[in-house]
Amino acid sequence: LDNGLARTPPMGFNDWNAFGCDVSEQLIEQTADYLVSSGLKDAGYAYVNIDDCWMASQRDSGGNLVPDRTKFPDGISGTAAYVHGKGLKLGIYESAGTATCAGYPGSLNHEQQDANSFASWGVDYLKYDNCNNQGVPWQQRYNAMRDALHSTGRPIVFSMCEWGEDSVWTWGAATGNLWRTTGDINASFGSMLSIYHSNVQLARYAGPGAWNDPDMLEVGNGMSFTEDRSEFSLWSEMAAPLIAGTDLRKATPATLSLYGNRSVIAVDQDPLGKQGTQVSSSGGLDVLTKPLSNGDVSVVLFNENSSAATISTTAAAVGLPAASSYKLTNLWSNVVSSTSGGISASVPGHGSVMYRISAGSGSSTGTTHPLVGASSH
Ligand code: GLA
Repeated sequence: LDNGLARTPPMGFNDWNAFGCDVSEQLIEQTADYLVSSGLKDAGYAYVNIDDCWMASQRDSGGNLVPDRTKFPDGISGTAAYVHGKGLKLGIYESAGTATCAGYPGSLNHEQQDANSFASWGVDYLKYDNCNNQGVPWQQRYNAMRDALHSTGRPIVFSMCEWGEDSVWTWGAATGNLWRTTGDINASFGSMLSIYHSNVQLARYAGPGAWNDPDMLEVGNGMSFTEDRSEFSLWSEMAAPLIAGTDLRKATPATLSLYGNRSVIAVDQDPLGKQGTQVSSSGGLDVLTKPLSNGDVSVVLFNENSSAATISTTAAAVGLPAASSYKLTNLWSNVVSSTSGGISASVPGHGSVMYRISAGSGSSTGTTHPLVGASSH
């Protein structure tokens, strides 16, 4: 959506994957504190997003949405003020239906009134779900909220959670800043893998202000470290939103080392805004390439199988210009190497190797910026 927002994929936190309906002002504010103290805010995580179940079960007598005062004693406006005070932005959730997925009042036929509430509270991001849509065509439902948000005059990122129905990618760029391409993710390799398979096919529909959304990150929620690292690598290669879905306050140093890898984040956030594509995919061994704004490419070698394998490609195959040598920076180990054209690595089962590659002497560096003060709690 050409509203000046989300020119790179949104980054932040959302409570749903780790907490479900157990959301609260305290959780949102502590997460905001933690994004600042951990260095994740400085790494780019900007949005602290509230998912379903933040509301009272009924609108008020004026038809307005009302926050659950037990969960949010200071309301959404008080929570937003706190989050803004930390230099972060606040996101909220609603559904383009008569009720949210968890059964709270929906925004269908209340679009302008609800958008006005969000804007008056200081909301910066709306995740707009698809439950209880009564069969009303998407154009009517999602365009109504797009227009309502626009007429508030407040910049609000519009995240469409339409689960990939109605081939949303073919119309999403005119309606929202990002759109879910699949059903819900869960913290398993199989779920992550199937979503990757769908989302990776949709690269041509993505660009600045308009992103395919393969759902929020499950990093830290139960997959192995190797699998978590694959999710973070693949999501970054696909220019996906990087919305942390774990309890960051309790994340291990290993988990934080994934969320906080600035070299990988730079691939996701590259201003060229190209989603990576598959160069090859055979027998569960995948090669992906993503062109970057300085002429480098990012390459992911991903092993879908459970046993280790060697995955190979070439500089020409991943789109690099002809050169006598290439510089490879392994974005997870930080090891720098060179090649005359062959690119190959032994990749553990369910694992990924991720390189930034430049032709010739290149301009990329092997520098990473570990999180300062990251620790487990
Ligand atoms: C749907 C969405 C999820 C989450 C829940 C909340 O399932 O796809 O991401 O927002 O609703 O009820």
